[in-house]
Amino acid sequence: MKGCVYGKLKRFSALILAILFLVATLIGIGSTKVSKVSGATKKSFVEFNFENKLVAPFKTSGKSMTLKIDSTTAAEGTFSLLASGRKQIDDGVLLDVTNIIDYSNEYTITLYVYHKSSKLQRFVVSSEIETKSGKENKPLCEKVIMPNSWKKLDASLNLTELKGIKKVWLKVYVPTSTTNFYVDLFTLKVSESSNLIKFESFEDKSIAGFVPQDKKCKLSVTKEKAYQGTYSIKFQQTAKKQNTAVTLPVKGTFEKGKSYSISFYVYQPILKSLNLAVGVRFLENGKNTKEIVLGKVTVPKNKWTEVFASYTPSLDSKIKDFLIFIRPLSEISYYYFDNFTISDDGWYSAVPDLDLPSLSEKYKNYFKVGVAVPYKALTNPVDVALIKRHFNSITAENEMKPEALEPYEGTFNFSIADEYLNFCKKNNIAIRGHTLVWHQQTPSWFFQHPQTGEKLTNSEKDKKILLERLKKYIQTVVSRYKGRIYAWDVVNEAIDENQPDGFRRSEWFNILGPEYIEKAFIYTHQADPNALLFYNDYSTENPVKREYIYKLIKGLKEKGVPIHGIGLQCHISVSWPSVEEVEKTIKLFSSIPGIKIHVTEIDISVAKEFGEDIDEETKRYLLIQQARKLKDLFDVFKKYKNVVTSVSFWGLKDDYSWLKGDFPLLFDKDYQPKFAFWSLIDPSVVPEE
Ligand code: GLA
Repeated sequence: MKGCVYGKLKRFSALILAILFLVATLIGIGSTKVSKVSGATKKSFVEFNFENKLVAPFKTSGKSMTLKIDSTTAAEGTFSLLASGRKQIDDGVLLDVTNIIDYSNEYTITLYVYHKSSKLQRFVVSSEIETKSGKENKPLCEKVIMPNSWKKLDASLNLTELKGIKKVWLKVYVPTSTTNFYVDLFTLKVSESSNLIKFESFEDKSIAGFVPQDKKCKLSVTKEKAYQGTYSIKFQQTAKKQNTAVTLPVKGTFEKGKSYSISFYVYQPILKSLNLAVGVRFLENGKNTKEIVLGKVTVPKNKWTEVFASYTPSLDSKIKDFLIFIRPLSEISYYYFDNFTISDDGWYSAVPDLDLPSLSEKYKNYFKVGVAVPYKALTNPVDVALIKRHFNSITAENEMKPEALEPYEGTFNFSIADEYLNFCKKNNIAIRGHTLVWHQQTPSWFFQHPQTGEKLTNSEKDKKILLERLKKYIQTVVSRYKGRIYAWDVVNEAIDENQPDGFRRSEWFNILGPEYIEKAFIYTHQADPNALLFYNDYSTENPVKREYIYKLIKGLKEKGVPIHGIGLQCHISVSWPSVEEVEKTIKLFSSIPGIKIHVTEIDISVAKEFGEDIDEETKRYLLIQQARKLKDLFDVFKKYKNVVTSVSFWGLKDDYSWLKGDFPLLFDKDYQPKFAFWSLIDPSVVPEE
């Protein structure tokens, strides 16, 4: 029901927008093509697609630079704008929008860019605003772009608060080199109206790009009927028993993962009812391939009827060329359609760029690159696509902890954990087990008397109960996944450097003493002799804590306890610890014969010291520091590639992180790669300042 009402609301708002747009077009304040733009009128929507072969109104900012229309490549259509002869890295393409935009509205700016240089380049869109008090430059969007592929830049421009504006320029440039670059489909839209992509009312007497599927039918603009205004399109077919489609090429309009609505009105005066299908057909090299029917509608006689469908191109679709088709399913000689609208659904579902270089591929000769994810990520196709692109190891964020696997004594719940294993198997991704023995997220029944419910003590009888539970838990869990989990965090966070003996006073310790640690390793090894077994901890760079961990693991190893590695959680920040301290830790731990290192939970906090309200400039500065630090850390990990065999991030993207309001990961909430990501791929595109 809710969906239905929502659908109606959406349709209603699309209709309202369509009407507003129609009115705006008629009175001359809106235009879909700049060729129709006249001089100083403020616009709510302007598009420069360069198909009119005009460079103007674009200008160069560098003296030696040239701008020309080029047909080598285009984001859509045949032509794009080529910027060449740049001498300075800030030489770029300028667009004077002083007389185009209405300052009382916020604008969404989108443009497509392309370059052919041999390396990655960072593109910037900035505004240059002149007011009475001087000129100010502000970056609106920064994005790293790979060669030979058109990519979209998005920015927004909000001048609503600014007084005394004299001039407003937009500038596109590439601060990472003087490479030539191309620009296409440069659009400016008032943000509120940005969900209307196409509206055709045929009032300009053109058939607006619609094509009949074959020669036995024809399309014409007619006055015979109209849903609104004066004109509509009449579809006629001459051959009998033929149901030919009307098609509309919409190349480049549909972005993967985003949801679109298609709506139009149909009228037919012939049949009692006409069944009509609307859908999309994919084209490859100009040829029709498969089609998807998005909706079917029954159009009664003599009644304008709305046809409504929605479409979300799937993320793994490689297809960029689409046709929308309208096909009668009943035999009919003619019908009319009007007010054809394509709009995005208002809620933009951000998507990752799956063409980015793969992180795990980049480091395949060094170590695995992993990620910890909540189960919801495995059920979200967008997250899955990103995970598959960049990571070859997975850790369940919480779903394989004792409270998830054995919430009540003897009641094991493996359904979600099994899903992780299935996912990893299906996608050929390795999985780390996290974590068997920990003082947190372990149900309290472990430490309570089975009959009385009282707290267990360190009496021999109680020790036996807990040890049995430990053994049973480990045997059940580890043997279930035997041979399928490459590494287990067997014991997590057992050291507390503030205790005189360095042992955390957990319930495990209080009841069993330090013995629980070696027992856990022994039981795990018995259950899966091939799994690598790790001791895992945070703040391993604290010299006092580091020493305790070193002594503990060295001692266990010398005793013959089956332990194969130490996990450095690496929940760190831009300011602590230093990269040198991380290196010292790796050096010290790996000096124990037979000990490998996994970086198990890396994230780099930036906002901790500043709070959530950091301004954009400070945030950008900190994100650059974060990227630098991560790069330096990875250099150390690479240096120790013989001992560092796996590096996992604690989260896929910033808004999934346990560090709420911080920005500790590689991707932002909209799946966009941050400087931190690029620092691991090509640090030269990370800004210096
Ligand atoms: C520790 C644990 C992880 C996780 C993080 C914070 O590092 O090992 O399982 O709980 O804290 O989310």
